[in-house]
Order: sequence, then C-alpha cells, then structure tokens
Amino acid sequence: MGLVIQDSLLEVILVAAGLVILTAHHFHNAYKYWARKGVPTIKPKFPLGNTNTLLPQGFSVGPVSKTFYDELKREGHKFGGVYLVTTPNLVVVDPDYVRDILSKDFQYFADRGFYHNKKTDPLIANLFVIDSDDWKNLRVKLTSTFTSGKMKTMFHSVVECANYMKEAMVKSIGQDIDMKETVGRYTTDVIGTCAFGIECNSFKHPDAEFRAMGRELFTFNFRRAIKSFIAINFPKLAMQLSLRISVEKVGNFFRKVVTDTVKLRQEENIHRNDFLQLLINLQESTNFTHDEMTAQVISFFIAGFETSATTMNFGLYELARNPDIQKKLREEICQVLDKHDNKLTYESLSEMKYLAQVLDETLRMYPPLPTLNRRCTKDYTLRDTNVVLEKGTRVLISALGLQMDPEFYPNPKKFDPDRFSEESKKMRHPFVYLPFGDGPRNCIGLRFGQMQSKIGIATIIKNFRLSVSASSKPLEFMPSSFLLQPKQTIYLKAEKV
Ligand code: HEM
Repeated sequence: MGLVIQDSLLEVILVAAGLVILTAHHFHNAYKYWARKGVPTIKPKFPLGNTNTLLPQGFSVGPVSKTFYDELKREGHKFGGVYLVTTPNLVVVDPDYVRDILSKDFQYFADRGFYHNKKTDPLIANLFVIDSDDWKNLRVKLTSTFTSGKMKTMFHSVVECANYMKEAMVKSIGQDIDMKETVGRYTTDVIGTCAFGIECNSFKHPDAEFRAMGRELFTFNFRRAIKSFIAINFPKLAMQLSLRISVEKVGNFFRKVVTDTVKLRQEENIHRNDFLQLLINLQESTNFTHDEMTAQVISFFIAGFETSATTMNFGLYELARNPDIQKKLREEICQVLDKHDNKLTYESLSEMKYLAQVLDETLRMYPPLPTLNRRCTKDYTLRDTNVVLEKGTRVLISALGLQMDPEFYPNPKKFDPDRFSEESKKMRHPFVYLPFGDGPRNCIGLRFGQMQSKIGIATIIKNFRLSVSASSKPLEFMPSSFLLQPKQTIYLKAEKV
C-alpha cells in the first residue's frame, strides 16, 4: 500500500527524490535504448533528454511534439525515438502508422499511459486517464450520454448561454475584449447547465464558483509543475508516493455539487436532460460509485469548457484577422437564419456548411490537444519492420505536426476554410487531421464540443464585426502546456453589425 503524506512535505520529498533518481539513472545507458532497436533517434541532451522544460504545465508534452515530428520528417523517417528525461517515447510520423496505432491495431494501444492512482486519488480516475479494462466498460456506459439525440435536447440551453454572452459583449463595444475570458464564461455557463442543470451566470457573477473552479484547474504553480514532472517522467515513483494529482479544492467542490444535486433530485423526484441525470440513471442500473460519478463529472467539466473555449478563442482571432472570411461566414449565417424564422436551431446550425469549415480549419491550426498519447499494452511489431515495441512503450502522435505539415496542407500558416470543402477533404489521408483523435479512444464529447463552439461563434459573428486590437501581441504558443495556449492574452475589438 502507498504512503499517504501531506502536500507541503511531498513537495520537498519529490524534489529530493527526483534529484536522487536523476543522478541514479544511468543516462548514458538509457539514451541507447532506441539505437539498440535500430530506431532513428533525435539526439537527447543531458539531463532532460528531448523535453524542453523541467516544469511542464500538465501531463503531456504539448506543442513540443511538433518539433519532434518536424525533425523526423525532415530526415525522411516514418517514426523515431525520443526521451522524455530518460523514458523512451516513439514518435509516429507516417499517417499509415498513425492509422495502425489509433485504429487498426488499437487492441495493442488501448491505454493513454497517464499516471493515476485509483485508490488514493479516486477523483482522477476519469475516462481520459484510466486503462484498458476499466476504460472499455466505462466508455460503453458513457457513450449514450453523447448521442445526437442528447445533443438536440441540450441545444436550446446552449443557445441561451450564447445569448448571455452576446448581451455582455454589447457592453464591451469599442473596448479591448479578452476573448478567452469571454468564451470561457460562456462555456462555463454551458457546462453548468448541461452537466448539472445549474445556472452559473458567469457574466453576471464573474467570480461565481464554477468559473473560479475552472480558473483554479488551469492555473499552474510550482507544486503542480513538480507533480507533473514526476508523473510524466517517473510514474512508478509517483505510484510509490501515492502522488495526488487531483486538485483538492476542485474535488471537494464537485463532490458537494454532485451530492446536493442528486439528493435534491431524489427528494423532489426531478428528472432533467443533463449529463448528471444520465450518470444518475447509470448509477441506478449499474454499480457506479459516487466517486466514479464525481470523477466523470469533473472530467466533463474540464474537457467541456476549456477545449471549446480555446477553440473559439483561436477561431475568433483568425476571423478577426481575416475580414473577408468573417464577412463570408456572416453572410451564410444570416442567409440560413432568414430561412428559419431567424432562429438558431439544431437544423439551421447543421445547414451552415461554411461555419463547419471555419471550425475545422481552426482546429487544424490550433488543435487544443496538440499531442495524442498511447501506451503499448502488449509487444507489437511495427508493420514492414523488425522493430518490436515492448509492452509499456509510450507513443506520441503530434496532431499539431501533422496538421501543420505543408505536404498535407500547403501554406499551412494560412487560415483557409476551403481546405475543408467536401472535395478537398476526400483528397487527403484521413489520419492527417486529428483534433478529436481517432479510433475507439477518440474524443467522446466531439459532438458536444462542435455544437457549443459553433453556437458561440455563430452568435458572435452574426452580431458583431471583429478586429484584432492594437494591444494584441503576435501569437506564440506556450511551449510547455498540455492544452494549446497563447503565451499572451489575445485582445479583440467588436462593433455592432
Ligand atoms: C472542441 C472541443 C474538444 C476537442 C478539440 C477535444 C479533443 C479531444 C482529444 C484530442 C481527445 C483525445 C483523443 C485521442 O486520444 O484519440 C479527447 C478525449 C476526450 N474528450 Fe474531448 N475534446 C473536445 C470537447 C470535449 C467535450 C465537450 C467533452 C465532454 C463533455 C470531452 C470529453 C472527452 C473525454 C471524456 C475524452 C477521453 C475519451 C476516452 O479516453 O475514451 N471532450 N478530446
């Protein structure tokens, strides 16, 4: 059984243990792993191997995987090895191998390989991190939560949240607007309503608890960065230390929200069309525990608001930079709405083909999850080679690398929604576009994410003309964050249409 210790003490122990382990590792030997297998390698540097940062902001390598992709591709390799500190990771470059790993030979790669400790940190055991067998059962149970029928029942609530955002933006006309904060409040309201049936009203109460929890989750500090470092690079040590990854404050908040809401619904016999209701129904028909339910709710909250907020932030930025595309999109939105009594409905939204292309192109240039992770669950031979990936080997697929590769997307830095016309899509390899991942372990919330992003963008573009504020700095990504984030805040200006 693992040792349970206080966070503050833990920090010191982790740093010390990390240092001991770093020196104890025979770097020289560790860095020969890929060469021994005949796998081309990007030269690692002592002591971090191929990572660029000691203190990662999350549990994955983020946009740095693109630099691995670019280097291997430049050298003509279909795959290659890197070391995250000393842990070997295979970077897959060729889209046929990407297809093998994500889809065709999925049974060898069903795990993501993220550290988690179900026993001492049950609230982290969500669908995103758990391993094969547990994952398969839970994925089947949760799939019914995200059907298009369920999306239709939630549609109206999402539109209502978008209207609150519109009203708030009217008040900011002519001023610098921090778009990330604006769309972050919108997606918080959406997930509050759609997950719990709770009106968060983040625009009226910007410090409302839900929004505060969202900020808390994505604010990194030294302690969290150290934990991330250990969890990524030394998962066995993390397990021995019972390293707790979940954020206590957030866990307690959601435990209480779930307990109170479930109690209220049972006492008053309330049934609603939200995620929590679907989880309550599952609890009744299976042996889903309270903590399991809370863990899923937290993961829906995290995945639900931040990924879509990031997408909309980048999408609106590109529309602000490209007035012709913005105008074309506005014309489509107005034309379709004219036909539908000026109402944004499930049907009218699906008629907006150019809007879908704008979203696809946004997710190409800015996939919120720039790196996909898999872990090999049994020995696997890479097709047409003698390279055997041993059970436990970690695999990195750079969605950002593939999606910015000029071979597949000429002039990749140009924002061009026409790349996603039906004809153009057919011409491309299907595994060079992976904003929602692919195969059985792809994003379960794809429809929901697309729906809320489209409703948000359509509402803003119909009502406001956007431009980039002179106070915005040129866009750069934060190098070490799990989700793709701009280094500096993007400011836009809005005028009423
Ligand atoms: C634009 C919005 C979104 C983007 C770009 C996105 C992207 C992704 C990606 C890339 C993955 C990993 C896929 C893979 O490894 O193949 C993923 C997994 C996941 N996403 Fe999303 N996501 C979005 C919205 C959502 C929403 C709204 C929810 C839930 C409410 C959600 C819940 C999840 C979950 C639970 C997983 C883990 C699935 C599994 O392991 O079975 N996502 N997402």
